[in-house]
Order: sequence, then structure tokens, then C-alpha cells
Amino acid sequence: MTSENTPIRKIVIEQRKKFSESCLWRMQRAYFDQEGINAWVNQVPFYITSNPYIARVYAELTLSYIRDTIKKNPQAANHPFYILELGTGSGRFSFYVLKTIHEFRKTLNMEDISICYVMSDFTKSNIQYYETHPALKPYLEKGLVDFAIFDMEAERPITLLKKNIRLNAETLVNPLIIYANYIFDTISHDSFTVHEGKLYELLLSLSTPETNMRDNKPVSMENLSIDYNVHEAKPGYYNDPHLDSILEIYKKNLKESSFLFPIGSIRAIKLLKKLANNKVFIVSSDKGYSTLPSLENLGHPSLSFHGSFSMMVNFHAIANYFKNSGGDYFLQTPRKGIKTSVFVSDDQLQDLPETSRAIEHYVEGFSPADYFTIHRRLSDSFQEANLDNIAAHMNLTGWDPHIYLKLASRVTSLVEESDADTINFMAAKMPRMAANYYYMPKSECILFEIAVFYHAIKRFDEALNYYHQALTYVGEQFGLYYNMALCQHHVGLFEDALKSFRNALRMDSNSKETQEWIAFLEKTLAPDTEKK
Ligand SMILES: C[S@@+](CC[C@H](N)C(=O)[O-])C[C@H]1O[C@@H](n2cnc3c(N)ncnc32)[C@H](O)[C@@H]1O
Repeated sequence: MTSENTPIRKIVIEQRKKFSESCLWRMQRAYFDQEGINAWVNQVPFYITSNPYIARVYAELTLSYIRDTIKKNPQAANHPFYILELGTGSGRFSFYVLKTIHEFRKTLNMEDISICYVMSDFTKSNIQYYETHPALKPYLEKGLVDFAIFDMEAERPITLLKKNIRLNAETLVNPLIIYANYIFDTISHDSFTVHEGKLYELLLSLSTPETNMRDNKPVSMENLSIDYNVHEAKPGYYNDPHLDSILEIYKKNLKESSFLFPIGSIRAIKLLKKLANNKVFIVSSDKGYSTLPSLENLGHPSLSFHGSFSMMVNFHAIANYFKNSGGDYFLQTPRKGIKTSVFVSDDQLQDLPETSRAIEHYVEGFSPADYFTIHRRLSDSFQEANLDNIAAHMNLTGWDPHIYLKLASRVTSLVEESDADTINFMAAKMPRMAANYYYMPKSECILFEIAVFYHAIKRFDEALNYYHQALTYVGEQFGLYYNMALCQHHVGLFEDALKSFRNALRMDSNSKETQEWIAFLEKTLAPDTEKK
């Protein structure tokens, strides 16, 4: 018998574990494995790293780096450049960056350079989603995209599933280009604390209420409690001078603080460097710390839960690891939000002039974090915006369907009173937005909203085209058939209109308006004798 006063029993899951060896990371992987693509349906945040603007930044950096590489070594042009995306997630970023790279490649006359984009993740369920995704199909058919199962916490070969090529020192003639967004915050870290000039490792104990346990496993990660014990860290902790010297910097320079060390990410980078003959170029956007002062005075690490959990990435440590091992890095001047960082091994950024220019413009200049900050501020006033503001904002987003879906009803309500130039500008950009459509489960369909826009501005043929395309994604719906029927009637396709109204009535047999339209069209289409 239980009573309200019975204390809740706590179950100890593990005690005094090295942070990177905790079962937390296994639970994290189990979460992504079980959820697959559904992790991005209102659970794990991803807009900030999966929009056309950040994709443009990565495309600019990548093509600049490829051009620098070829300038330094013209033979590089005869071998493929591989771009490996780590912890790909939904694939929306991959689609935008892939699309932008190939658009730029054409504009820049770089079509004879072979670039293969590899979407990797540790879980098969995500890969299966990409393999059949309609937006990726054209790239797949041209061999421009491939997929790989890659668990960054396990030293296993990386094989491209379509081309059946293993990424290794023979196949990777050119430097390996790596994208790492919201992934260094997701895989294992160690944790340390500095107190009175001494360095301690933080050992972690996990417990949870008994009610949160099923089959000997915690049900919800959010109900875990974390406790820490300290244990003095001996010099040479990692037995790797490139890493141990970074711990020494913290021991010497931090007065009183706790910090994370992204050991899982650094081990994965080491493996990738080995596969790529020590030549990697990494672009990463994540939340984290990039300066020594920002690592001062921090409490013991806390987990931030959003379906999965994430931690602040110590970019300062990753940068120092590159510097110590003969490479270079660029960390943007800190600002609120995510940080975009660039790392290169076996090279110096000053010897990569185009890359440095792109970094100055797109990382230190108007960065993905700046884009997000401005977008967020403007989106607070969407409902007061006029069509000119909306058109300019949509242009800033690169005609991002995700944003237009939030604005669609405001746009339709403004069409009547708006300037013809603005309307024509938006109408001209709608096909571009349609081309940015990346289907995600349980999300609205941009093709339908584009059709509604053309319908509202009385461009019925274009509206019909998009209503037809939307049918594949949204399935049979009253509103879709009814709107289609109205457009068909406007352009004189009376028989088609009658068919569509009948379909609409099938979806909603009580709709009086539809019944009236059907009666009217049946009469209109009836042979003259019947009309009498
Ligand atoms: C927070 S999500 C980020 C997804 C995407 N990069 C983005 O910015 O939206 C982390 C992704 O990493 C994958 N992941 C988790 N642990 C991993 C590991 N050990 N190795 C490779 N991928 C992993 C998950 O399946 C998930 O797709």
C-alpha cells in the first residue's frame, strides 16, 4: 500500500563514473535510434542549423576552400572532394547545402570538379529516411550524394552505401571536408573542475525515482538526477601531449571553474584525420564556449533536455587541439546564440586566401547566429508587417518554406491592398521557394500555400499547378479540391471543376456551397435540350 506521505524511492543507476563513460551517452543514442526522423517533429530544435542561410554560408566556405586547395595543388582537380556531414539528423540542412553547392558550382564554372556529399548518422532509421526522400532523389540519381552509417563514438570503417566505397587513406586523395552541426554537443565529453590551482576530474553519479524505471532502465532522461564527486586529475591525464597541454592551460589560467572537454568529438576528429591522410577541413555550428575568459567561473555541467540532451561545446579546446597538432582555426568573436567555427589540419588559414575571405564575410561577418537573431526579432512582429516587409524578410531567408508557413495567412490578407511590384516580386520567387521544399512528417505543405498565394492574386494556372503538386503530399482534402475546382472554373475547365467539386463533396458531404456549385455546373454542362 502506498500513501501520499511515502517518500519516493530513488534508484542509483551508476556511481562515480568518468563523464565520457557514463550510460548517459548510450541513452542519448537509444533516443535518436528509437525516434528516427520523429526526433525533429516538435522535439529536438533544428531550425537554427537547418535553414537556407546557414547552408549558403557552408557552401561559400566549402567552394572557397576547394578553390584554394586546387590553386595550391592543381592535381587536386583530378580527384573527388568528399564532404562528410556528421550526425546529419533531419537532412534538411544537407538538402539546402547540396542544392546551393551545385548552383554555385555551375555559376563558378566548377562543374568539372567532382564533389560527393555524404550524409552520415549512426542510426539506420535516419539513413532510410534520406534514401527515399523526394528532394534528394535528383542528387542521388546523379551520384552527387551518398549515405554512410558512422557512429562517431566507435572506430569503424566508413563505407558509402551507394557507391560502395570505403573512405580511407587511398580513396581520400583530397582533404576531407567535414560539417558538424549540433553534434559536438551531443556526443561524449569529460568534465573537470579547477580549484586553488589544482585540476580535478568530475565523476558522475546518476539516480532517478523508482517510478521512472521500466525493465531496469530509466524511462525519461529528464527525470535523472546528477551528482558529482571530485578526484584529482594526474598530469598526463589523456596520455596525449596535444590534449594534456590544453588541460594544463586550464589548470594554470582558470581560477575557479568547471569545464567540459569534448573528448568524443576529438577522438572522432582524430579518426577522420587518420582516414584522410591528416587533411581535414571542418565547419561546425553549435552552442559553446570559444574563449578562455568565457570558461571562467562556471558551475558543474548541467544537461539541457529537448527530447535528447545537449551540452555546451568547448570550441576553445578543439581549436587548441588543432593548433597543437599543426593545424589552424577560426573562432568567431563571441555573440549570443550558436557559434560557427572553422578548423583545418596540416595547413594555415593565412595560406588559404579565398577561405579566409569567406570566413571574414560569413563567419566573422553576418554569421548564421546573426541571421537567426535578426530573423527572431522580425518574426515577433510578423502580424504587423506589410507585404514589402514580408517580401524583404523572405528574401533574407533565401525563400525558406519554414518561414513562409508562419506568414502565409498574413500574406493572403494583405494581397488586396499591396503594391503590384511587391506582389510580382513575390510571385517571381515562389518557384524558388517551391524548390526549397524538404518534406518532414506532420508538417504543413508549402506547395499548398504557394497555390493559395497564386490563387489570391488571380494567377489561376500557376495556382492549379501547385494545387496538383500539393495533392501528392497532403493527400485528398476538402479545401484542396474545393480551391482547385474554383481555379478550374476560372480558367474555363468546367468539366475538371465539376470533378473537383464532386471530390470535395466526397470529403465533406454537408458542404452547401459545394452542392450549389455542383448543381450549377451540372446545369451549365448539360446538353441544351436538358437545359430546357
Ligand atoms: C542534435 S542532432 C543534430 C542534427 C543535425 N546535425 C542538426 O543540426 O539539426 C544529433 C544527431 O546526431 C546523431 N548522433 C547521435 N549520436 C551520434 C554518434 N555517436 N555518432 C553519429 N551521430 C550521432 C543523432 O542521430 C542526430 O541525428
